[in-house]
Amino acid sequence: MTETTRPPHTKDNSTTDARRVTLFPERGVTVLQQLERKGYRIPFQCREGYCGACRMTLIKGRVEYPEEPLAFRGANEVLACSCKVVVDVTVEFRG
Ligand code: FES
Repeated sequence: MTETTRPPHTKDNSTTDARRVTLFPERGVTVLQQLERKGYRIPFQCREGYCGACRMTLIKGRVEYPEEPLAFRGANEVLACSCKVVVDVTVEFRG
């Protein structure tokens, strides 16, 4: 029988790695750009709403998409590269 020395809640993709950040409206700046300016290293590839690599959870607030992105996003998800803050938002992501 194999035993693990690490409890399930401490595995690499556990919620303990999640970060929550609150952002405020900033004209012409995407959520991804705001987070990068704060020093967060957010995964991205296309930066144009095609790949979904920058997908993160919207905890509260409201964003807008100047152009509708093609990548899938769930009901409580945003594509950080393509949206801008409209009403103060809190986003959650791994990083
Ligand atoms: S980086 Fe590709 S959708 Fe955001």
